[in-house]
Amino acid sequence: MVLINECKHNNIKSMCGIVGYIGTRQAFPVLIKGLKRLEYRGYDSTGVALVSTNAMLNVYKEEGKVANLEANVANRDLGGTIGIAHTRWATHGIPSSTNAHPHVSQSGKLALVHNGIIENYSLIKERLLKLGFVFKSETDTEVLVQFIEYVKETHGVDTVTAVRLALNQVIGAYAIVLVDKEAPEQVIAARKSSPLVIGLGEGNREFFIASDATPLVEYTQNVVYLNDGEIAVLKRGEEMQICNLKNEAIDLDVQSIEMNIGLLEKGGYPHFMLKEIYEQAQAMKDCMRGRLLEKEKRVVLSAVCNHSERLLNAKRIIIVSCGTSWHAGLIGKQLIETFVKVPVEVEYASEFRYRNPVINKEDVVIAISQSGETADTLAAISLAKERGAFIFGIVNAVGSSIARTTDTGTYIHVGPEIGVASTKAFTGQLTVLIMLALCLGKERGILSEVEYEEIVTELAAIPDKIEHSLACNEKVADLAKSFTYARNFLYLGRGYNFPVALEGALKLKEISYIHAEGYPAAEMKHGPIALVDTEMPVVVIATHHQLYEKILSNIQEVKARKGRILAIVTEGDEGVRDLVDNVIETPPTLACLSPLLTVIPLQLLAYHVAVIKGLDVDQPRNLAKSVTVE
Ligand code: F6R
Repeated sequence: MVLINECKHNNIKSMCGIVGYIGTRQAFPVLIKGLKRLEYRGYDSTGVALVSTNAMLNVYKEEGKVANLEANVANRDLGGTIGIAHTRWATHGIPSSTNAHPHVSQSGKLALVHNGIIENYSLIKERLLKLGFVFKSETDTEVLVQFIEYVKETHGVDTVTAVRLALNQVIGAYAIVLVDKEAPEQVIAARKSSPLVIGLGEGNREFFIASDATPLVEYTQNVVYLNDGEIAVLKRGEEMQICNLKNEAIDLDVQSIEMNIGLLEKGGYPHFMLKEIYEQAQAMKDCMRGRLLEKEKRVVLSAVCNHSERLLNAKRIIIVSCGTSWHAGLIGKQLIETFVKVPVEVEYASEFRYRNPVINKEDVVIAISQSGETADTLAAISLAKERGAFIFGIVNAVGSSIARTTDTGTYIHVGPEIGVASTKAFTGQLTVLIMLALCLGKERGILSEVEYEEIVTELAAIPDKIEHSLACNEKVADLAKSFTYARNFLYLGRGYNFPVALEGALKLKEISYIHAEGYPAAEMKHGPIALVDTEMPVVVIATHHQLYEKILSNIQEVKARKGRILAIVTEGDEGVRDLVDNVIETPPTLACLSPLLTVIPLQLLAYHVAVIKGLDVDQPRNLAKSVTVE
């Protein structure tokens, strides 16, 4: 049966969080708690479907966040030990309760949650409409569930077979979880290009399904990551079965995960973002543990040891990433070019993947990603792989798609980052890039023993200096009050601190919705200086490093145009203080390590401006943490 014609496959994916449960507990609390953990993936509408003991399918959906759904269904029938749930980031159709998942088939028997985009959904829908199917929502997901039901009825097959046959005709990306009220003892899950992980309860008494491991860790450490084209059938009390789209059985690959649940809670902080800013000293220690050997003054990265030949023979390194991770990449370029003397290009993954780049077999591609699920970065990796490059991943989320796709890599190990605006992941990425550049620079003989040991020793001291930097929090909070009027901000920096200026501007934009631009300080005179007036706050990173004198001149240029200047300076600095309106001090360190300290006040500034403006710091509008849409 071929119902659908070919349509262009462009590998689009979407965000959203999925949770599913089958077991002995009441499903609803498990699902709601899981959705809250996944809300970072999208939060414009929410829904659950519960299969009750008398095989009723109760579906509840609301526009808005999970808490909204929870409050609005408190008096409804929430019984049932099987259920699926979803938190959405809209792609097809506006955020509304009608477009929210789960979507239910025409007969009311099947309910489906979906993360991804069915690219040929309009062709399927057209055909189903002709056959008399009626659609309530604008979503591709409703088309999929109707299609599964259509296949089930026309072929007279069971639900698992219908899912498999239907998915064989679907083009696009999906992670789906489906329940059938007529087969109330099973949950079906499948994936292609969108992540799905299944947690195994003891004795197969229960199974937890989610878009990532964070909702599972409080119940089990044993998980199975579904691979592309796999379908899992979960039945209470039976071993889980996995098959592929050709109906061939797949062996279970059970992995063990460890995660500190405390890291998934706010722990007394008003927001995850503030907590994560404060966690940076500890996160950096965790990132360096076992890798930076302080006594021996050595850095050891197993990925470098295991692949030293390939890495050291690289003629060129290309860094691909997006957003904050791209800013880390820009600093990585300076580190690697200085310590290793290999040319480095830093590319937006989204541009790289589409511009037919020149990639050689000797190239090493470094992919940087906190979530490990960013669609553009994944696509850039697969392009580079196709052309024979060696891929090194710098990832936070253990077991994520990028971590599993790369040839080797180094986890940043900063713990889960929940606040949508990235903070501790940035400092973690920088830490790994510094360690990587140190290892390669030493091996290549570019860094002298003295330089190497000096940097290693200072790197080990940075967590304490981050702790010390955080003492500026109150001052920054106070200053932030006088900045909430601003409609634009300029951030300036040079050398290693130019990407920090970009990062400071991005943080402010994302969570305070104030337009901000980062510029290399000297570039300002080539255009942006026209914007400077008494209304324009200008944040300048003016620490005692490369080009300090030049930055003083750039500050003078802003001052002459009456711009309001906040400078990030080195403790004890006297040169800048009299020229600017406010200063925030950071501890002295080496230029190459300074971004680890200068970024702290900029993260705090963005945070406090947004809090004072009464905005949702952890879940800013229109954003989601894991950008699996292209
Ligand atoms: C900014 C931010 C984003 C991400 C970008 C890449 O605060 O979080 O710009 O850095 O979406 O995400 P990852 O690192 O998960 O690939």
